[in-house]
Amino acid sequence: MQKIFISDLSQHVGQEITLKGWLYNKRSSGKIKFLILRDGTGYLQCVYFKGNVSDEIFNTADRIGQESSIEVTGKIKEEPRAIGGYEMDAIDLKVINETHEYPITPKEHGVEFLMDKRHLWLRSNRQVAIMRIRHRIVKAIRDFFDNKGFTLMDPPIITPAACEGTSTLFETEYFDLGKAYLTQSGQLYAEAGAMALGKVYTFGPTFRAEKSKTRRHLTEFWMVEPEVAFADLNDNMDLAEEFLEYVVQTVIKERESELKVLERDLSKLNNVKRPLPRISYDEAVEILKKNNIEFEYGNDLGGGDETIISEQFDRPVMVHHYPAAVKAFYMKRDPLKPEFALAVDILAPEGYGEIIGGSQREDSFDLLLQRIQEHNLPREAFEWYLDLRKFGSVPHSGFGLGLERTVAWICGLDHIRETIPFPRMIYRNTP
Ligand code: 4AD
Ligand code: MG
Repeated sequence: MQKIFISDLSQHVGQEITLKGWLYNKRSSGKIKFLILRDGTGYLQCVYFKGNVSDEIFNTADRIGQESSIEVTGKIKEEPRAIGGYEMDAIDLKVINETHEYPITPKEHGVEFLMDKRHLWLRSNRQVAIMRIRHRIVKAIRDFFDNKGFTLMDPPIITPAACEGTSTLFETEYFDLGKAYLTQSGQLYAEAGAMALGKVYTFGPTFRAEKSKTRRHLTEFWMVEPEVAFADLNDNMDLAEEFLEYVVQTVIKERESELKVLERDLSKLNNVKRPLPRISYDEAVEILKKNNIEFEYGNDLGGGDETIISEQFDRPVMVHHYPAAVKAFYMKRDPLKPEFALAVDILAPEGYGEIIGGSQREDSFDLLLQRIQEHNLPREAFEWYLDLRKFGSVPHSGFGLGLERTVAWICGLDHIRETIPFPRMIYRNTP
C-alpha cells in the first residue's frame, strides 16, 4: 500500500485512508475528541465521535499525550474551517509510541530552554516552516547556477591555510603534517575550479571561530560561492543582483504558506528586483555623515553602520570600492585608485546586514605574492594558489552568500540561531 501524506489529501476526499504521524494537539467537547495529527507535510483534524468508535479507541484518544506517534484511519472530507482545509471522520486509532509530558507545550518557553531542546523544537509549526523555506532557498540557489551552466565543485573542509584572516581560524592537529584548519571559505579552490571549468560554484559548510555574540554570527554556516573566469567587478555585481532577485522571487512564489506562518511582511521582499542600487564606500560614508553617525573614514562598516546605509533604500544595496586595508589579501585593487579594493558587499534591508561579500581577484603573480607577504601568510601554503597566476592567469571574480543570513532575512527572523537545524555559536555546541 502506498503511504499517504497530509499534503496529498486533495486526492483522497471521500475515501477511507490511514495516515501516520504525531499528535500535535487535542481538545474535546463532550462526546467528541479532536486530535490534530501532524506528519511533517501538514496538519489534519481527526474527529472521534463516542458513538462511532469503541470505548477503547475513545479512551485512547483521550489518554495519549502530545507527540505520541499514532496511526489514524477514517474518511476524509473538505472542511474549510479546519486547519489545512480537510477533516477526518475517524474510525480507528493505533498508538505506535505513547508519550506524556512532552517538554515543549503550546505555552511560551524561554529561548535558552528551546535551544537546549532544539532536537524537539524542530517539530514546531514555525521551525518546520523555516526549514522548508531554507530548503527552498538552497534549491533556488542550485537551480540558478545549474541553469546558467555553472559546475558545482566541492572544496575541501580541512585546509592548510587561512582564507579570510587568521583571527577566526579553527585549528586542529593533522597527523605528522602539523596544523590544519577548518575552511573559512571555499573561494581559493573555486578559483582553481574557474580556471578549469570557466564558471563554478561551491556550496557547503564553512567555519569561523567568531568570538562575537551577535544575532548575525554562527561559527559553522553554509556559504555558496560562485567564481567566474574572465569577469570583472561589474560582471560580478550583475551576476549577484540577478541571483538575489531569482532566489527571493522564487521563494516568495514557492513558499507562500510557510511565509504566512512566519507572518512575514512580503511588501519589502517583493521589491528585491534588478537593478539593485550600487554605491561606493565613499558614498556610503557620506550617508553615515548625513545621519550624524560617528565614523572614522577608512574603517570597515560595522553592523550598525550597515543598517543605517541600507535604510536609505527599498531593496538590497551594493557597496563597492572598500579601502583595500580592511579587505582580504586576495582582492584586486583598482588600478586607478590602488588604495581601494575591487570589492562588493551586498547589504540586506531591515537591519539584516551583509549577506554577500565578493570581489575581483588579484590576478598578477607579483602583486598577489606581495599581499601574501604583507598579510604575514605562509608562502608555502599558497604556492598552489600562486600557480594559478603563473599558468594562464585571467581576470576573474566571485562572491559568497551566507545561507543562514539569507534565511534569517527572507523569513524575517530576529536571530540567526533559528535558521539552521543545529546552530553552532560561541556559547553553544549542543545538541
Ligand atoms: O564576506 P565573507 O567573509 O567573504 C568570503 O568568505 C569570501 N571568500 C566570499 C567570496 O568572495 N567567495 O563571507 C561571505 C558571506 C557574508 O557576506 C555573510 O553572509 C556570510 O558569508 N558570513 C557569515 N554568516 C554567518 N555567520 C558568520 N560568522 C559569517 N561570516 C560570514
Ligand atoms: Mg564580508
